[in-house]
Amino acid sequence: MNIVVTGAAGFIGSHLCEALLSQGHLVKGVDQLQPASALKIKEDNLRHAIGHPHFEWHPADLLGMDLGRLIEQADVVFHLAGLAGVRNSWGATFADYLQANILLTQKLLEACKQAPRLQKLVFASSSSVYGGGGGQYNTEASPTRPISPYGLTKLAGEQLCYLYYNQYGVPYTALRYFTVYGPRQRPDMGFHRFMKNAWLDQPLFIYGNGEQTRDYTYVSDLVDANIKAMHYPKHGTVFNVGGTETASVNEIMQKIERLAGKPLNMQYSPEQPGDPFATRADIALASAELGYQPKVSLDQGLAAQWSYITALYANEKP
Ligand code: NAD
Ligand code: UGA
Repeated sequence: MNIVVTGAAGFIGSHLCEALLSQGHLVKGVDQLQPASALKIKEDNLRHAIGHPHFEWHPADLLGMDLGRLIEQADVVFHLAGLAGVRNSWGATFADYLQANILLTQKLLEACKQAPRLQKLVFASSSSVYGGGGGQYNTEASPTRPISPYGLTKLAGEQLCYLYYNQYGVPYTALRYFTVYGPRQRPDMGFHRFMKNAWLDQPLFIYGNGEQTRDYTYVSDLVDANIKAMHYPKHGTVFNVGGTETASVNEIMQKIERLAGKPLNMQYSPEQPGDPFATRADIALASAELGYQPKVSLDQGLAAQWSYITALYANEKP
């Protein structure tokens, strides 16, 4: 199939491109390689895709592109481009979140409504649409009450997809990703920071008391859910995509300590506004409808990410 992946140089998008190429699809990847501080990492993310005969690379800002042209041959579009991260979405940066997560999604949907071959748009949504969490399982029917501006923009993105499905028949499926980890994880995310600082003998900053929990999803499981969603024949719905386990930050510290083979220099710092206390995915619907079942345990996934981080920062080791 002809497939367009937005956000192709990002953490998740780059893994998705590789998986699609390995299945024989023709993939067009678009990314503006932001933030500039992560440029080298993003170029590295696409190392295996660029040069592949079935990969067409567009290093560009989607907001300035003719999206109708970009997707005119597409059978499937995966929309992963966006501005992620719950804690950074307050204050003046909210304008960037609006642009990346709402305005861009609407622009893409306008193009999708005219795309002659489009069979599926898969939209990257987020567990942050649910809110703070009391540790209970969230089903897709749970109330959506974001506690961060970022969560609000992802919920708006989902609602826009529904609007264009309802009024114009745009054939979409949205996936609510729960905290994704593994090689290439964004440098601003928890495991990346913890492992980098453990490896470089620097302090690890834990927000709050470290008892907050996440449903952690290994990136290959998430990619599998995306590919299953691309083949899903029904449209206009949303699925949770969680992992094999939940864990608190304190539990993660113990696991990283074992991987590092030395005591960690942990520093507890204030809780961050917009940071949920607990996230937990009920994946019964994704399991029943998509056949999704996460496979990678936290110990396996953390070990793979540790190998990636120690190689990435090998030259910075004092
Ligand atoms: P990422 O930052 O690594 O990738 C997103 C990419 O989108 C970036 O490389 C960025 O350059 C690109 N992009 C943004 N705006 C663009 C534009 N206007 N034109 C071209 N490219 C643009 O993030 P990620 O962690 O891989 O997340 C991918 C998607 O999944 C995001 O939409 C995010 O909100 C969502 N998500 C991620 C997680 C997670 O745990 N990582 C969880 C829930 C949802
Ligand atoms: C992640 C993504 O970054 C969001 O874009 C996404 O929307 C969200 O998952 C989701 O599931 O929807 P988050 O859960 O905050 O957000 O992921 P991490 O940055 O990896 O944080 C994981 C945990 O580590 C959080 O409990 C956080 O409080 C903690 N943390 C993170 C720290 O204690 N210290 C740090 O330096 C970083």
